[in-house]
Amino acid sequence: MDIEKIKREIEELKRQKNAIIVAHNYQIDEIQEIADFVGDSFYLSKVCAERTENVIVFCGVHFMAESAKILSPQKKVLFPEIDAGCPLADMITEEDIDSLKGKYPDYSIVCYINSPAAVKAKSDVICTSSNAVKIVKNFPNDKIIFLPDKNLGSFVKKQVPEKDIILWEGFCITHYKIKKEDVLKAKEAHPEALLLVHPECRPEVVELADFVGSTKQIIDFATSSKAKEFIIGTEMGILYSLKKRNPDKKFYILHPGMICPNMKKNTLESVRNALLYDRYEINIEENVVEGARKALLKMLELS
Ligand code: 13P
Repeated sequence: MDIEKIKREIEELKRQKNAIIVAHNYQIDEIQEIADFVGDSFYLSKVCAERTENVIVFCGVHFMAESAKILSPQKKVLFPEIDAGCPLADMITEEDIDSLKGKYPDYSIVCYINSPAAVKAKSDVICTSSNAVKIVKNFPNDKIIFLPDKNLGSFVKKQVPEKDIILWEGFCITHYKIKKEDVLKAKEAHPEALLLVHPECRPEVVELADFVGSTKQIIDFATSSKAKEFIIGTEMGILYSLKKRNPDKKFYILHPGMICPNMKKNTLESVRNALLYDRYEINIEENVVEGARKALLKMLELS
């Protein structure tokens, strides 16, 4: 495989099709390197909503590409690896929302962006890991159902104690691997290092952190910090930007299993093929787009 040739083909196809490539911070290094925009789910959803190109190649997992399509229904959104899903997003269904609404009619639904489009369509507002606290605080109802991530939900509950928040039982299979013992071991091995974690980690891990934030917020924090060493509690794709922006600092990943198998499905070849064969195009039912768009726009308004 001639990597340089594939990169040239991608550049040429991008020009021909008036396309941009956006990549999540968990993508493999080679994809982050060629992407036009790299970031967390909030940043990428804003980029997709604001850009004027006709085609978006979304390198991430399925709910992210769906969100791009919902925010830009007139654009063609291509998703190179069709089976790159998110197990957390699949832990909640439309039927679950219907039954919650029946059981708790006075509550508003704040839905994490890691969720299917049909679930978003039945929610009042969407949030990402970077703005969940702000959205719950600013939403004009004190009774909230937060779903599907129970760990992000617990983090929000602690930050917004004045609200009555019901949690759902979902979790990220990758972040869930990190246990308190891993943190204690890492802190012992690197006593000078600050601990930066994603709020999808277990509450007992989050409790020990020096900083809790989205992938972009972790990168920004480490970049502006005076500290020289950091223990990182999230997926290891984040190391690409951390090291690129901070060549003089040291980063230790908290657990060797911090690899999201779905985020790692995209390759340079699948990105080239996405552009070459227009695949796989994201299409969402019109009535779902309408409801989900309302909830996503509410997030942009409140954050
Ligand atoms: P970010 O909001 O930090 O991009 O995280 C998305 C995600 O899926 C974390 O597992």
